[in-house]
Amino acid sequence: MTQTKGEEVRQRLGTLIAAAEPGHRLPPERELMRTFGVARETIRRALDDLVFEGQLVKRAGVGTFVARPRLTKQFRMRSFTEEMRAQGMSSSSRLISATTHAAGARTGAQLRISPASPVISIQRVRLANDEPMAIETLRLPLDLVPGLAVRELESRSLYETLREDYDIELSSGSQRIEATVTDDAESALLGLAPQSPALLVDRVTWTAEGRRVEAARSVYRGDRYRFEVDLTA
Ligand code: GLP
Repeated sequence: MTQTKGEEVRQRLGTLIAAAEPGHRLPPERELMRTFGVARETIRRALDDLVFEGQLVKRAGVGTFVARPRLTKQFRMRSFTEEMRAQGMSSSSRLISATTHAAGARTGAQLRISPASPVISIQRVRLANDEPMAIETLRLPLDLVPGLAVRELESRSLYETLREDYDIELSSGSQRIEATVTDDAESALLGLAPQSPALLVDRVTWTAEGRRVEAARSVYRGDRYRFEVDLTA
């Protein structure tokens, strides 16, 4: 079987990483494009894959570095975009609403802010290869994301936006998954029959410093979605 350009680049980058010390900085994208004789998009994709696998770490505005080895293999916290990309699918979103309001008791407790603190609440339908997969409602403390370009979240990943525009790197989270059925509004948005089986996912994420960033509630269609968890003894 012949190798695609992307695979070849990944393999060569893999060799480069294996030979380098953790913390070593990779040459800039432009130089890699020249070295491998490929387009920027091919380099980006290969780098993104290696970041996703934990072999590289990207620091916004600084560069890409060889990652330090992980001590334990953990359940990786992925964004919707990363999950879809890993399965070779494209992802996009349809914005349903974006409002600013007081956190209230539940969200305030989840985000560890006062119930009176303002949050931005964003509801999106998430699509994989243009097919609706989930409805997500996110709440973020407003002071963390001043001027957030909500419309852009139709085509851009929230986690990427946090990283690139706000220098917010999510390090951990906690997630609860329950069985549910879709209500009328959810069924319509997902194009499903009323009362279709679904998964209700509640997620809270935070930075390495422990700052709560996101409280999200998502309804994933049960017929197309499966959660996989790696187990480590
Ligand atoms: C998953 C999580 C959400 C998170 C989202 C970010 O779907 N359940 O809590 O907000 O990923 O996805 P993206 O970065 O693609 O916008």
